[in-house]
Amino acid sequence: MPTVRDLTAMAGENPITMLTAYDAPTAELVDEAGVDVILVGDSVGNTSLGHESTLPVTVDDIARHVGAVSRATDDALVVADMPFLSVGVDDAESIENAGRMLKEENAEAVKLECGPHTVDLTERMVQLGIPVMAHLGLTPQHVNHYGGYPRQGTDREAADRILDLARKHEAAGAFSLVLEHIPSNLAAEITAELDIPTIGIGAGPACDGQVLVVDDAVGLSEWSPSFAEQFGSVREEMESAIDDYVSAVESGAFPADEHSHEAEDLDELY
Ligand code: KIV
Repeated sequence: MPTVRDLTAMAGENPITMLTAYDAPTAELVDEAGVDVILVGDSVGNTSLGHESTLPVTVDDIARHVGAVSRATDDALVVADMPFLSVGVDDAESIENAGRMLKEENAEAVKLECGPHTVDLTERMVQLGIPVMAHLGLTPQHVNHYGGYPRQGTDREAADRILDLARKHEAAGAFSLVLEHIPSNLAAEITAELDIPTIGIGAGPACDGQVLVVDDAVGLSEWSPSFAEQFGSVREEMESAIDDYVSAVESGAFPADEHSHEAEDLDELY
């Protein structure tokens, strides 16, 4: 089982693999495939809970999904994504919310969508024994600020702000850094600059690892961002199986004899 220290040591060595998972069967499959890190992302809001953004996701939502994932995971590092406004408003409450993921749900670390407001908080959490994965670049909890999900760090000034925050979160003790939807040359610059591993999503090949939303990777999502790749077609498989089930019930082909039983002594029971 990789620890946060093992993961930090993987910077510049073997590429780190990370996928999201939100439920026990998916976590089991992801873990068995040898993925290093399972992120219980607040993307659960879009993928599984039917929301249009991650903003409505609650601490209770994430806690329930972290519990399901950690019960099904033997080897991968389980990271809980802290949802909108669960951290950063009040330090004590932030630490309690993050601590709950480790204490009650068996996560090994938390991920924070970062900004200037999470530098001291990261340091405090790390001091208290809560490992922090930082997340910079496109931080989807800022959707209302961006007016969508645009690329970030596309001019020197914006790139320098991300680089500066990356350095500050490393100094504060973050054990790794997710970089989302930034130019690949900026991700390469940050990766070269930091000792902790960078894990990219839409950030090019120079990162120390890659992460995708599992629904995008297996082809379950109805829509996925341009930087995601489908490695399967689970949606088509499900559509075909569900259609076959409906046809079989409607035609009377299901249930067949082998799906039912008769009690021979039934009449004697009454
Ligand atoms: O919530 C999530 O799934 C994420 C990843 C896309 C990094 O934050």
